[in-house]
Amino acid sequence: MFTETDGKRLNRADFTGWYRRNRARSSELFGLIHDDALHDRPIPLRHPFVFYMGHLPAFSFMTHNERTLGEAPVDAALERLFERGIDPGSRGQARRQQPNEWPSLETIADFGSACDRRVLQALERAPLSDASVPRLQRAQSVYTILEHEPMHHETLTYLIHRLAYDRKSHVAQVHRDTPAPSNDLVQIPQGRATLGADPDELPFGWDNEFGKTLVDVPGFSIQRFPITNGEWLAFVRAGGPVPSFWIEREGRWSLRGAFEELPLARSWPVYVSHDLADAYARWVGMSLPTEAQYHRAAFGTPDGTERAFPWGEQGPQARHGNFDFARYDPEPVDAHPDGASAWGVYDLIGNGWEWTATPFGPHPGFDPMASYPQYSADFFDGKHFVMKGASPVTARETIRRSFRNWFYGDYPYAYAKFRCTTP
Ligand code: AVJ
Ligand code: FE
Repeated sequence: MFTETDGKRLNRADFTGWYRRNRARSSELFGLIHDDALHDRPIPLRHPFVFYMGHLPAFSFMTHNERTLGEAPVDAALERLFERGIDPGSRGQARRQQPNEWPSLETIADFGSACDRRVLQALERAPLSDASVPRLQRAQSVYTILEHEPMHHETLTYLIHRLAYDRKSHVAQVHRDTPAPSNDLVQIPQGRATLGADPDELPFGWDNEFGKTLVDVPGFSIQRFPITNGEWLAFVRAGGPVPSFWIEREGRWSLRGAFEELPLARSWPVYVSHDLADAYARWVGMSLPTEAQYHRAAFGTPDGTERAFPWGEQGPQARHGNFDFARYDPEPVDAHPDGASAWGVYDLIGNGWEWTATPFGPHPGFDPMASYPQYSADFFDGKHFVMKGASPVTARETIRRSFRNWFYGDYPYAYAKFRCTTP
């Protein structure tokens, strides 16, 4: 199921190179934010940007050096402050999590550099993998820190997106809006979907990916393309809700792009919360796909085998979809015919995650991972929904069939699109 790059065992140079690339992308993203905006919290439930400047190196150091290798702290107080930054359940809780004052930018930068030095030292010299130590089995804590940072690149980009245009740098991008294709239904016959994976199949997976599960999926139909802004416009005209990425200007709709306001691009996927996506599906008399239906449409084939990716076995390339920071904003939903699945379903990986109807939960046999036991388990509450695929700012390294993302059903900030199904 893996190609040269995806299946290969990584060595020290690969790990240190990946760590440095992650840190360079973090610097690039923080560099887009004007200095006087670093204490802004454009998403009220999330911390200000300065928190993430400390969180990324702190998490890596604490997870790998301290907890796995048993090293002494760099700075225990700063580590406690920057340890964790997930979405709290309420604004009240968010307020309680705010310290009275954040350390100075200089203090945070020095702390970050100290963590980085120690992490790189460990990646260069300390054991990476040890079958007898749970946190080190298959280099688990190394992969944990290396995949944690790119996930924050994505959430950081959602935050930067919400910042006013005059509080961040402008990134020049070319935007294309083309006549949207008609969104016909593709029939997927009854067949098997494999959810999750076995540890032996992957170099690394998060705990929620394990417990490989075979599901027999009855036949269903699914829309060939994700729902576009153009399709959503009909819903708004019929009294439906307005997506949070839309702005009304003198009776016309425009789009809040990452770095500029744009005319509403009708051929781009509409980004909405799970709950809005579900409302649209009901309005057209359909449903959101279950996680198993998404798998069937994305990875199933008419001959009954399953693919690693919608397009086949080859690792993700630019021609397959809009991901890996190729750009910050979406593209037309039919921009990547090379990424279509065996059934001819388009845009399943990239251009925005896809909401499913499935509440985020464990696969059978779930076991919290040694290097980050709260990673998934804290979110098995029936209020988060599984998202599959990838967005424009999802790192190539984290794109795999078993990867599952999740957010609260009413979370409007994610780069998340959807399509509808019918029995
Ligand atoms: C998996 C994207 C929902 O950003 O809240 C980062 C990833 N967990 N640090 C999040 C995560 C801890 C998580 N998501
Ligand atoms: Fe985190």
